[in-house]
Amino acid sequence: MEILVTVNGQKKCFTIAANEILLDVLRREGYTGVKKGCGTGDCGACTVIVNGNAVNSCMMMAAQADGADITTIEGLARDGELHPLQRSFLDHGAAQCGFCIPGMLLSAKAFLDGNPKPTRAQVQEAILGNLCRCTGYKKQVDAIMAVVEGKEEYL
Ligand code: FES
Repeated sequence: MEILVTVNGQKKCFTIAANEILLDVLRREGYTGVKKGCGTGDCGACTVIVNGNAVNSCMMMAAQADGADITTIEGLARDGELHPLQRSFLDHGAAQCGFCIPGMLLSAKAFLDGNPKPTRAQVQEAILGNLCRCTGYKKQVDAIMAVVEGKEEYL
């Protein structure tokens, strides 16, 4: 079957099997920034933004995405400029192995798009579903809070 989606602002038609998950289709189509971790909805590495919401793409059938607007990490930078969240993660040394970072950035973006002035506790809660086994989360929360506090310009 075919699905029509918009990925990172570009209209796409993907041929999929009825039993394929969105994660596998996106990776097959070249969006390899979408990471496969647990495959069971627990780690958040596969997070993408679907119609404004952060979604674990391993828990969504590709067929359910028909007609959806999808953002992957490949779509976060624009015109060669890193998104402020990406810049802030770099500035704060918030990525170590990096495997969790695409999903964490997209969770943070979806969250800040709906709540641009959260508390630190709300930010911590917003990325609860994105597991990082390297850094213990402090630097990632610092990086997101720097954007919230205007130390990094948010587009
Ligand atoms: Fe989807 Fe872990 S790979 S939540």
